[in-house]
Amino acid sequence: MPAPSLDVIANLAKRRGFVFPASEIYGGLRSSWDYGPLGVELLRNLRAAWWKSMVVDRDDVVGLDSSILQARQVWVASGHEASFTDPLVECRNCNNRFRLDKLDDPNRCPNCGKEGTFTEPRPFHLMLKTFLGPVEEDAAVVYLRPETAQGIFINYENVRRSARLRLPFGIAQIGKAFRNEITPGQFVFRTREFEQMEMEFFVRPEEAEKWHSYWLDARLQWYLDLGMAPDRVRLRAHEADELAHYSSATSDVEYLFPWGWDELEGIANRSDFDLRAHTEHSGVDLRYYDQEADERFFPFVVEPAAGVTRSAFAFLLDAYDEDEVGGENRIVLRLHPRLAPVKVAVLPLSKKDELVEVTNEVASLLRGRWTMEIDVTQSIGRRYRRQDEIGTPYCVTIDFDTLDDRAVTVRDRDTTEQVRIGITELVEHLDGRFGGAV
Ligand code: GAP
Repeated sequence: MPAPSLDVIANLAKRRGFVFPASEIYGGLRSSWDYGPLGVELLRNLRAAWWKSMVVDRDDVVGLDSSILQARQVWVASGHEASFTDPLVECRNCNNRFRLDKLDDPNRCPNCGKEGTFTEPRPFHLMLKTFLGPVEEDAAVVYLRPETAQGIFINYENVRRSARLRLPFGIAQIGKAFRNEITPGQFVFRTREFEQMEMEFFVRPEEAEKWHSYWLDARLQWYLDLGMAPDRVRLRAHEADELAHYSSATSDVEYLFPWGWDELEGIANRSDFDLRAHTEHSGVDLRYYDQEADERFFPFVVEPAAGVTRSAFAFLLDAYDEDEVGGENRIVLRLHPRLAPVKVAVLPLSKKDELVEVTNEVASLLRGRWTMEIDVTQSIGRRYRRQDEIGTPYCVTIDFDTLDDRAVTVRDRDTTEQVRIGITELVEHLDGRFGGAV
């Protein structure tokens, strides 16, 4: 089915506890969102899937968790303080502000429809500023990091030395980043506080192109392996005028959002821009020493930079489906089992006392292995609908026959097929169905 609208996803996300508008009881704070019980599980699963493929399953990438607040000089050296800006225009008729580079028609206001009413573009700085200490003066200014990447570059030598790494190697980091976006919106697509998953892969300069192409393929495959529809995800190379100030080549992984193709992840060849800049500004030599060749040089960097929150949104959109079961319409999130917030739901057919003990017995077999939920309220049909809507791959139903045959019914979210399985075989059965995916 075609991608659902933003409203459909935002409503489902709120109704079921994935994403809530931040500060809602005070009228909300534009573009800020809170993640509810299912949202945090989805984010955790995404981070874990990324970390596993980027760090755990490899022997050439290690992890880092650097501080959000760093010395101001970091952002001077990286070029962010001088040039991390977007071109801002304001409509003289309706006073709305826009990012010039994101307008379909740079001459026509998308809000009031008037033509030729825009002011001259001016650079709008995207970094969020605060002050350290009691006095709000220039010397106390620090920025909330606008990307996790710089924390990696400034720790390059610490990590390389302590982990005894030789080229090529990568440093991966997941964490919050902040940008004072001119036009946040489209639900959690573009927010001022968001989370990134970035990896800086350090290579010999002459190998940068080869590794860039390697990471393009690997990163696209990651989304496909997690079940994203192949016709809704693609790679697109940047035109020269789109490149960030540090990049010599960038391709985006793009997703077909309800408004069209848009960025999910950027994969850049950052050349030696960052290590060279930090060497010049800090005075610390960040060149790599190759013992065998007895030479020092700045490694090039290939950077796959993804968004946790933006990916979560894309996976929700991609998983959303509507079909008909037993003559009734249903909404189902066909999330990959690894991403599904709840893996198994245990549903006793009745609240009656007779089923309590066996329900607890079944639940205790599953708890600790998989994220699990027991649901005893409402009719079994409504409970299936709820589990379908939150993407639970399997429901285990306990009925009065269970007391005699010591068996339960396992229902598959995608096919709605049901099979009867003995309680003692349940864990092995589910393990087989998950096929090592969770
Ligand atoms: N270190 C390179 C860098 O930060 P980027 O393309 O600006 O590159 C990487 O950001 C990823 O971070 C994006 O592809 C997107 O997934 C996510 N991202 C960036 N800005 C965002 C925002 N305002 N809201 C949500 N996610 C964002």
